[in-house]
Amino acid sequence: MTASSKPASSATQTTAGDSPAECSRALRDTLGQFATGVTVVTTVDSSGQPVGMTVNSFNSVSLDPALILWSIDKSALSYSAFTESEYFAVHILKGDQQHVSNLFAGRGADKFGQVKWHQGKGGVPQLDDCAALFHCRRAQNIEGGDHTILLGEVLEFSATGGEPLIFHRGRYRALAGE
Ligand SMILES: Cc1cc2nc3c(=O)[nH]c(=O)nc-3n(C[C@H](O)[C@H](O)[C@H](O)COP(=O)(O)O)c2cc1C
Repeated sequence: MTASSKPASSATQTTAGDSPAECSRALRDTLGQFATGVTVVTTVDSSGQPVGMTVNSFNSVSLDPALILWSIDKSALSYSAFTESEYFAVHILKGDQQHVSNLFAGRGADKFGQVKWHQGKGGVPQLDDCAALFHCRRAQNIEGGDHTILLGEVLEFSATGGEPLIFHRGRYRALAGE
């Protein structure tokens, strides 16, 4: 793998001497050019404890059947909970929920003591006041390098709308006015 920090319009830079760490950093930075929304994905672990993490790898897959996906880092503390539980919920965050994103991006932190939530179907925690919610059945775990891709069948969904939280080049952003 080679990387270049030059604009796409310029010639590809030869980077044979780049270390794996430099290459990984460059790849991460380049992937960060892709603006995404921000979600919090929740489930319950085998002892019934609520589990959740901030995720921007969420994407739509299929309308019929209704399928979505996201990917989880194999080193996440909640890895077993998400890859083994029957159900999970995806919450699309609003523009004013940056603090919720930061909270759920904390590793193993007490995430549920500081937000309003209630128990949804299958005991899966549902956060209040998000832009949209998808309640899913885990349909498939797909091998994806240092991540596992989780395919979910959407069983229920709802939307309240509002401006979304945006993530781009490692920073939160707001939509420019229409
Ligand atoms: C904006 C944003 C997006 C993220 N997206 C993902 C993702 O798609 N997959 C993932 O595994 N981690 C993602 N993370 C990192 C996790 O939220 C973070 O590692 C969290 O601490 C995992 O929680 P846990 O270790 O308690 O399970 C993201 C973090 C941020 C701030």
